[in-house]
Parts: sequence; C-alpha cells; structure tokens
Amino acid sequence: MSKLDANLLKKYHRDIFFNYSEYPTKDNWNYNFKSDDYKKSLLDWLPRNTSEPIMLYVHTPFCEQLCYFCFCSKEITSEYKKAEDYLYNYLFKEIDMLFSFLKENNITLNVKEIYFGGGSPTFYKEKEFKALIDKLKTCYNFDNVIDFTVEIDPRRVDESKLLFYHECGVNRLSFGVQDFDLEVQKRINRIQDEKLFDSLLTTKVRDKFKVINFDLLIGLPGQTSTSMSKTLDKVIKIKPTQIQPMLLHYDPFKRKYMINMLKDGPLPDFYDRQEMYGVVKEKLMNDGGYKKAGFESYALPDDPLIKAMSNEKALYNSLGTQTGDVTNFIALGTSGGGCLGDDYYFQNYYEQNKYRECIRQGHLPTFRGTKLNSDDKIRRNILQFLKTYYYLNIANIEKKFQINFKKYFEIEFALLKKLENDGLVVCSNEKIQITDIGIHFTPQIINVFDKYNRIETYDDQKDIIARQIPRTSV
Ligand SMILES: C[S@@+](CC[C@H](N)C(=O)[O-])C[C@H]1O[C@@H](n2cnc3c(N)ncnc32)[C@H](O)[C@@H]1O
Ligand code: SF4
Repeated sequence: MSKLDANLLKKYHRDIFFNYSEYPTKDNWNYNFKSDDYKKSLLDWLPRNTSEPIMLYVHTPFCEQLCYFCFCSKEITSEYKKAEDYLYNYLFKEIDMLFSFLKENNITLNVKEIYFGGGSPTFYKEKEFKALIDKLKTCYNFDNVIDFTVEIDPRRVDESKLLFYHECGVNRLSFGVQDFDLEVQKRINRIQDEKLFDSLLTTKVRDKFKVINFDLLIGLPGQTSTSMSKTLDKVIKIKPTQIQPMLLHYDPFKRKYMINMLKDGPLPDFYDRQEMYGVVKEKLMNDGGYKKAGFESYALPDDPLIKAMSNEKALYNSLGTQTGDVTNFIALGTSGGGCLGDDYYFQNYYEQNKYRECIRQGHLPTFRGTKLNSDDKIRRNILQFLKTYYYLNIANIEKKFQINFKKYFEIEFALLKKLENDGLVVCSNEKIQITDIGIHFTPQIINVFDKYNRIETYDDQKDIIARQIPRTSV
C-alpha cells in the first residue's frame, strides 16, 4: 500500500459512489413503470429476440437470523408458514400471471440459466424447493437450462441437502462466507466456523458442482490486514472455484440495524479497505493460484469465468462478475430485478405487502423500470467494460456505436485529463487505461461517464445523497 499517496486518498475518497451493476443507476429509473409498462416492454423486446438466452432469477425473501451488514431484501423470521404462504399463494401466482401472458402472446422464454437468490433460498425445506422447481418445469423447456445457481447460507444446509439440490438440477453453488475471523463474525452477528465446510464440501459434493463461489466482504467491523490474511489462508485451503471479495456497502439511512456494527468501534476506513484489497490480491494470486476475474472477483484458472475474461465476454452485473453467456434477466419474487438486452431494466417491489397487493389485484409487481436511450446504451457499455477490464479500446466503441469518441465525450475527456495528471488513468487516441493505482479508485474514475450522477463538487454529492435517501419502492 505504500504506493497509495495520502493526498490522492484525500482527494478521491468519496462517501458516495455507485457500483454500476446497472446504468442508468436505479435512482434515475421511472418510478411509474408498473405492470402494464413491463408487459409492453416484454412484447416489444422478446419477439424481436427469440433466440436470445434468458436467465430466470427467483427471489426468496426470508432468513432465520439478521446479519448486521446485510443490504439484501429479506424478512427475518422463524415462521416457516410465511415462506409457504409467499411461495404457494403469491410467487406461484406471479409465475402463472407472467407465463400465461407470454403464452397468450405466443412467446416462449429461451431460459438457459436459473438463479435462486435471496434472502436465503436455503430457507425452503426440500418439499417447497422441489415444488418451486416443478412449477417452473411447467413453464418452459427445463432441458435447455445450462447453469442453475443457488445462493447458500452454509449454516442452513448439510451434505444431503446440497446433493438434493443437485438432483433438482442445480450445478452451481454460491456461499455467503464474508469472513472467518471469530471477532468479526461476532460483530456482524453471523457465527460460522470454517470447519463447517469440511462437512459440506465433501468429495461427493465437489464432484457434482462445477462452480463453487464464496462471497467475502471487505470493510466489516474488526477486519484488519492481519485478520484478512488469516481468513484468506482458510479460504485458499477450502479452494472454492470462484471468490468475490465485495466492498461492504454501508447504508444505515435505509437499514438502521447496520449501526450495530459500530458498537465496538468504527468500520475500517478507505485506506484500511484498500490495504485489505492488496492482501486479498496477493494471497489469492500468489498463494492460492487464483486469477483476477474482473472487478472484485477471482477464479481458479480452469473456472469458466477465466475463459470468459480472456474472450472479453465476462460482465459485471447485479450478481457480481458473470461469464456473460446470458445477460438478459427475467425476475420473479420481491425485489427481483430484470434486464433485457441494452434496452430495458425493471424491478419488482421490495416490500412484501406491496408485492402481495399487486398479485392479489392481478398485476405483475413491477414498481420501477427504464427504457435506455441511445446515449445510455453507449455509456452503459463503457462503464461495464471499464469495470471488468480496467481499459477501453476506443475504436471498438466507435465502431459499435458509430460515434467519434473524442468529440462525443469531450467533457469526459477533460475530466479524465485531471485524473491522468494524478496518475489514475492513461489516455491515448486508442485507449483509456486505468493504472495500477487507479484500480483502487475505479468507481470514482468511471463515474466520469455517468451523465446522471457525475460527482465533481461537494454540492453534487449533496444532491445525489438527497436523491438516494428516499429510494424505496414508494
Ligand atoms: C443473499 S446473500 C447470500 C446467501 C445467504 N443469504 C447467505 O447470507 O449466506 C448475498 C450476498 O450479498 C452480499 N452482501 C450482503 N450485504 C452486503 C452489503 N451491505 N454490501 C455488500 N455486499 C453485501 C454478501 O456477500 C452476501 O453473501
Ligand atoms: S446475509 Fe444472507 S443470511 Fe444474512 S441477513 Fe442477508 S440474506 Fe439473510
């Protein structure tokens, strides 16, 4: 970390920046984009793109215990009947509504991937998990599904449940791990010993799942470079095929319980976090044999993500860095977010009462969405590419979008020049390259291309924060 200059940190460290898993960012979408608008967009896009592969995302909004860091959409409960009610009386109806609408319009979805996220899909007992899959099997050709991922809370499964998932067609597992340090675990209210994985990732299980991902979090209370180094030693020993060390998004405005993490002291600051990222990179690449696979992501050399990276097909989206095989999402369940091509984004209500009310009234539960204009599409492309590969080939963008890049992005180039003077990027007529030091500031650098939320002054930040605070479904 000695390379990171304190003045640079002071200048570019900002409390607010965006992860650009979507562009335009969600606060710039249309909040009057409801069921009818969603249906119109499906009718506009799907018949023009019948062979395009689709990922079906299904959200389960229940967990047994609250983790203080968590920004996911969930309800904490021990009442299983809540999950049964959600599944049988609402999610199934949403599935019926969506697929009968598609059928009436002679549209079949080319579903190639399924992703069960949460909350915790592991909340379901085998009976409900199987019922959900049987329901989906009635909607499209399940034999065409290539990848089926389930987010796993390791505290709620055992070997036999993982093998059961495989019998249901699941072939990728994504575990919430976060950190193996006991002090950190206490401060986030999530105790899980690494020994748990000895009983879960048995040879039988590893044989069945071609991708095993671990989510880690950087910026949790009590984390230091030393604790991180020990956690990584344990992770490397377990050897998942992919590791996503994500930066903690701390947002107590929307999730008050996050302040519980401050009880025994402050969170690691920007400098601490960058230092920990340095440790992660060194450990995983030097000791673990992992390769960098885009933003906040590492994978073993034979993992599909590495091949996708070398073909420049990989992409960063709301599920982290993905292979890019399937980039169109149709989402079901509370908070589920969809995306069709370069053209549309949509999202379902977060709040269960609003979601349920829509279903009762016979509407699809979309609460916001957007149709991208041609400028949005260019910027989205640039932001996603820079975030994954840390460089941009200007000629490729000019060819793809028929623009003169330097003319089109005159303002952005002037801003990049300032960053170039500080050694964060190198710009030529052919290329924009984020430097090794610049990589620490990637979100701040690529913010230059965000037309809606460009942060140049303190006042810009204030305006953007004001827009963020009421960003709920209402
Ligand atoms: C739905 S959870 C994973 C599955 C399961 N519920 C579990 O916790 O094991 C999805 C992932 O979101 C990430 N996440 C949750 N809160 C976050 C936050 N505040 N900032 C960044 N990532 C977060 C965590 O890494 C977590 O593993
Ligand atoms: S991290 Fe996972 S288990 Fe913890 S509260 Fe969030 S969704 Fe639930």
